[in-house]
Amino acid sequence: MKIVIIGGTGLIGSQLVNQLRQTAHEVIAASPSSGVNTLTGEGVKEVLVNADVVIDVSNSPSFEATAVMNFFKTSNGNLLEAAKEAG
Ligand SMILES: NC(=O)c1ccc[n+]([C@@H]2O[C@H](COP(=O)([O-])OP(=O)(O)OC[C@H]3O[C@@H](n4cnc5c(N)ncnc54)[C@H](OP(=O)(O)O)[C@@H]3O)[C@@H](O)[C@H]2O)c1
Repeated sequence: MKIVIIGGTGLIGSQLVNQLRQTAHEVIAASPSSGVNTLTGEGVKEVLVNADVVIDVSNSPSFEATAVMNFFKTSNGNLLEAAKEAG
């Protein structure tokens, strides 16, 4: 299976990536530092091609209440739309 970990470079995500890479699955760590940004949509469609599973463990860069709400609403919306399109 192809498993895409959004936020795969973070504290939680990197541990998940390391553990899943010990299995036979293809594991992609996706985040802005690898050109995948769920807030802007950059690289999201591309990384989801042929994905079987998507795990989102991203986090907002700002903890200010409005910024956090905007981050998760926008990034989740973009991710769900792209995942639906990718099937
Ligand atoms: N750490 C904990 O103890 C803990 C406990 C309970 C729940 N959680 C939840 O688990 C999630 C991950 O937490 P964490 O501590 O692992 O966070 P983190 O270490 O701050 O990592 C955040 C991850 O999100 C990515 N990211 C930031 N902006 C993004 C964007 N626009 N598009 C895609 N990815 C983006 C970062 O990518 P770059 O590296 O490229 O910036 C990084 O991979 C959060 O929702 C948090 O609330 C964490």
